Amino acid sequence: MKNVALITGVTGQDGSYLSELLLSKGYEVHGLIRRHSTICTERIEHIMNNLDYKDRFFLHYGDVTDSCNLSNLIYEIHPNEVYNLAAQSHVGVSFEVPEYTAEATGVSTIKLLEAIRQTNPAIKFYQASTSELFGGIPETAPQSETTPFYPKSPYGAAKLYSYWVTVNYREAYNMFTCNGILFNHESPRRGSEFVTRKITIAVAKIMAGKQDKLSLGNLNAKRDWGYAGDYVEGMWLMLQQDNPGDYVLATNETHTVREFVEAAFNEVDVNIEWRGSGIDEKGYCSKTGKLLVDVNPKYFRPAEVDLLLGNPAKAESQLGWKRKVSFRELVSMMVKSDINMFF
Ligand code: NAP
Ligand code: GDD
Repeated sequence: MKNVALITGVTGQDGSYLSELLLSKGYEVHGLIRRHSTICTERIEHIMNNLDYKDRFFLHYGDVTDSCNLSNLIYEIHPNEVYNLAAQSHVGVSFEVPEYTAEATGVSTIKLLEAIRQTNPAIKFYQASTSELFGGIPETAPQSETTPFYPKSPYGAAKLYSYWVTVNYREAYNMFTCNGILFNHESPRRGSEFVTRKITIAVAKIMAGKQDKLSLGNLNAKRDWGYAGDYVEGMWLMLQQDNPGDYVLATNETHTVREFVEAAFNEVDVNIEWRGSGIDEKGYCSKTGKLLVDVNPKYFRPAEVDLLLGNPAKAESQLGWKRKVSFRELVSMMVKSDINMFF
């Protein structure tokens, strides 16, 4: 039987890597895209233009807040796997558009689950859950599937709803639904408004003489950063098991934003020397004394998640999943890619 997948959020970082992975495994892949006034398919252009995929990769206009659209798509496409990656995914922005975030990142999940339940409850469902669910209780790190949740943003709260309806449809209707509780994962395709890509773009532009300095918010926040290409493999593995479940994907290693900045500048042989503290903290080139990094409070969030550190033991033992790309390799890959773009 042919494997058919529907991916919401196909134009996003993860959607693009997941599409590549599923197509390489022989799947027919359908992606949901929103209509934009400008082109938004940059991350999947290479797939759309690949003649090998012309009969196996299809895009459909839609929006996860539109339940009619979701029902129609499930009915027409007949997928056997659905990956729900679409979301207003920026934590900081969720404080500015809280109601929309609740709709797109939270309520939309039950619309999709209902469309599946009413059309074909045998469809396997992956929900893009997040380490932001753990949010405010750093003393419990490393965080695992059994760590209590305490979201610290409208985004985290919306994802909490999605997490629980995914569990609920498994328990109530015996559906094959899985939560991937994914810690931060990055790549050269990461959106430029997330901190890692903001940093690597700035490094490349500063070296190319196209940017003066990099302004950031909380330098002390700690994140467990992995490579997106490794994480989509885990998503797929979850849906290939005999039984559905919820799994943490993480590296079990955490770094501050400050350390990411240092590592990124090190890639271009610049050593950062920090002076001052709090909003007066500044990073200078240790050789030339040039100011390269400062803090701008406009990037602070109304509430912050201080520390994320994940324990992926369950995914490693049950799925056979393991991250392949190290922190250093990730930083290097991202800086090199941005250097290529701006030189
Ligand atoms: P991303 O790059 O921001 O992509 C989000 C995708 O969702 C885009 O394709 C976007 O489409 C789409 N989308 C947003 N609102 C939509 C709507 N109303 N209807 C249809 N599509 C909509 O996010 P990502 O990094 O790939 O993450 C994928 C998923 O995993 C998200 O749900 C995110 O919250 C979750 N997650 C990510 C991480 C991480 O570290 N990357 C960790 C844990 C969980 P447009 O291109 O039209 O905007
Ligand atoms: N975006 C951003 N911009 N973040 C900054 C900045 C800045 O200028 N300066 C410091 N930070 C800090 C944020 O306050 C946060 O503590 C950390 O850097 C990471 O921010 P993001 O890269 O925006 O990611 P995130 O951790 O908030 O959320 C990402 O990971 C989640 C999983 O833990 C997103 O991909 C979410 O969708 C995902 O669920």
